[in-house]
Amino acid sequence: MRVAMIGTGYVGLVTGACLADFGHVVTCVDKDPAKIEGLLAGRMPIYEPGLEDLVARNVREKRLSFTTELAPAVRDAAVVFLAVGTPSRRGDGHADLSYVYGAVREIAAAVEGFTVVVTKSTVPVGTGDEVERLIREVRPDADVSVVSNPEFLREGAAIEDFKRPDRIVVGTEDERAKEAMGEVYRPLHLNQGPLLFTARRTSELIKYAANAFLATKVTFINEIADLCEKAGANVQEVARGIGLDNRIGSKFLHAGPGFGGSCFPKDTLALLRTGQEHGVPLRIVEAVVGVNDARKAAMARRVIAALDGNIAGKTVALLGLAFKPNTDDMRDSPSIPIVLALQDKGARVRAYDPQAMEEAHKTLSGVDYRSSAYDCLDGADVAVIVTEWDEFRALDLERVKSLLTQPVIVDLRNIYRLDDMKRHGFRYESIGREGTTP
Ligand code: UDX
Repeated sequence: MRVAMIGTGYVGLVTGACLADFGHVVTCVDKDPAKIEGLLAGRMPIYEPGLEDLVARNVREKRLSFTTELAPAVRDAAVVFLAVGTPSRRGDGHADLSYVYGAVREIAAAVEGFTVVVTKSTVPVGTGDEVERLIREVRPDADVSVVSNPEFLREGAAIEDFKRPDRIVVGTEDERAKEAMGEVYRPLHLNQGPLLFTARRTSELIKYAANAFLATKVTFINEIADLCEKAGANVQEVARGIGLDNRIGSKFLHAGPGFGGSCFPKDTLALLRTGQEHGVPLRIVEAVVGVNDARKAAMARRVIAALDGNIAGKTVALLGLAFKPNTDDMRDSPSIPIVLALQDKGARVRAYDPQAMEEAHKTLSGVDYRSSAYDCLDGADVAVIVTEWDEFRALDLERVKSLLTQPVIVDLRNIYRLDDMKRHGFRYESIGREGTTP
């Protein structure tokens, strides 16, 4: 099957490469010539485990190609995926659909024969109707079916998520489109990947409801963590105790510094706007957004408290900058407000992240980037674990202790055991658990 993928961002590139790996012939289109040039030369615009090899293999086997020319790619395709960005519009939190609509006009002008236009980008309820209207306006004669097919890929595990999905949601009531989408995902279907057909608006809402629910789960356990700290309980045990209940489930119950990334912050805001437009207050989502923003802003205070309030002139070593491990994505990362607040209070901030330092450099200034965790800790007054990269999970604690000027660790991801920290004589502050003192 011939597929065109419009947009080679995170979602488009992963989806395009995975569909090519299934045996489809995929042309990825992007307006940015530098990005396409890089991809043609085998350079990935993002860090995602396994992606570079997947792209290289499918390019070599001639199932995957890259171009800036939208029209020929669309003309030849039976299915055209829209995977352009939908950032939060400045000021009002609405999803900015200008890239989507721009691409749709170009697609409409180029389609030939029956074509399924699939929205992969996360778009508010009703966008599919508008896409369809636009296509009719530009090309009243076009034989096009507009489908919603949201992505549920986690950064850092996107290829695995694509190939072993919990479900594939396809929003269409058109039989020809259903058949084409069945064909696109046939390899997964054979693998028992459940294909769920719904009406288009329902599919659009499923994406936002899923992300808002997950964001709520994280925020819930974060607030319970605060209570655990005051009440002398352990949030990891509480999470395990509630997570073993099948109705609750154990995933997304890791307390931490607050959620970030490219999806949860923007999708929760966009869902709130949709609620407002329809006159339906979404008070839980509203609380989640407020609680999470406040939480991220409060994390620096934990570092300051661990130094008994004496932060000015102190050197803080941040381990991890990305919003989560296995990605270089800095979007809405909790590390950003932490760095800004610490610098504001007169601290010197150093950092090491296995992948995100280049990205961080674009957002943060005045940070001393180091080449390894130990280099970062050398001579620092406190270590702060911000992202739970595997390489931070088994540091040589005696070495850490000898490198720091004083044995103080603030662990915002709870990756160490309290008894280990106590044994090694650290002052150790984590999330939702009692601290230890030397
Ligand atoms: C998310 C959704 O999982 C995915 O389905 C959707 O398509 C895009 O958004 P992603 O943003 O890559 O994926 O990351 P995810 O692993 O879901 O984590 C989101 C945020 O929540 C991160 O900041 C993470 O650190 C935080 N989180 C997650 C926690 O703090 N605790 C948890 O238990 C889980």
